[in-house]
Amino acid sequence: MEMNILFLGYGKMGSTLGEAWLAQGIASQITAVDPQADNNEFQATVVKQAVPVTESTFDLIVVAVKPALVGQVLSCLPAQTGADTCIVSLAAGVTTQRLQTALAIPAPVVRAMPNTAVQVLAGCTGLYTSQPLSEKQHDMITTLFDSVGRAYWLEKERELDAVTAISGSGPAYYHLFSEALADSALALGLPPGIATDLAKYTALGAAKLQCLPDSDLAALRRNVTSPNGTTHAAIETFEQAGVLRQLVAAATSAAYRRSIELGQPDRQ
Ligand SMILES: NC(=O)c1ccc[n+]([C@@H]2O[C@H](COP(=O)([O-])OP(=O)(O)OC[C@H]3O[C@@H](n4cnc5c(N)ncnc54)[C@H](OP(=O)(O)O)[C@@H]3O)[C@@H](O)[C@H]2O)c1
Repeated sequence: MEMNILFLGYGKMGSTLGEAWLAQGIASQITAVDPQADNNEFQATVVKQAVPVTESTFDLIVVAVKPALVGQVLSCLPAQTGADTCIVSLAAGVTTQRLQTALAIPAPVVRAMPNTAVQVLAGCTGLYTSQPLSEKQHDMITTLFDSVGRAYWLEKERELDAVTAISGSGPAYYHLFSEALADSALALGLPPGIATDLAKYTALGAAKLQCLPDSDLAALRRNVTSPNGTTHAAIETFEQAGVLRQLVAAATSAAYRRSIELGQPDRQ
């Protein structure tokens, strides 16, 4: 698949995706409009203001500006949107209805919620559209987001708020747990460099085990928890009155509620 893609906004998330798609040869050409981005830093052709006029049309237009600027960039879309052009918006909380209202052309709109792990090609992206896509458009978008991790199509728009609360914000939860583990390692007398490395590489090792085919999360935990052993002592503490699970449920509910709130334009 060789795609011609336009990015509106080429900041952290936009450039991570665009450069990964170019590096993997999935996109043959990327043009990015961004007043900040530096052309020398990127493989994409970066322009500061208007989209350069060429003969070709874009297969995809990726909206990668902050949510508050989405209406503005969509209302001045270039003429090079062909009959098959599809719009993908990364903007957190901006609903498909709001995107369609802001759009002057009748192109289908897809919302995508990736996470920061797309930087290391291990991202999770939730995808949603309320409009029928052609098989080619559906495959194109799936291929793009699978190339930077895993893509999941959702049936209901509200599920994107849940994706935001779980995988969108999720890397930060694991970073926090690693920080706490590194602090504990220090408190137990390990040297600082080793303490941090043990926390990081334990997270990496556990993630790799969790992602083996047919792995079962509870079975993985039970396999390293022999009765009255060291792991058992720690797990008993985490599971005492369901304390850890309750904390995770409360934290993710707070993120979910905040995602819904941010989706209401007057609450941003
Ligand atoms: N980062 C993430 O992990 C993540 C995850 C999921 C979704 N998202 C979504 O992705 C979008 C981008 O986030 P980000 O973290 O990549 O933000 P960012 O780094 O601030 O990137 C946005 C870029 O767009 C530029 N821009 C502003 N006005 C523009 C215009 N009129 N035309 C073209 N470009 C313009 C910005 O320039 P200025 O600095 O001058 O404004 C900035 O360089 C957001 O809507 C966010 O909700 C991000």
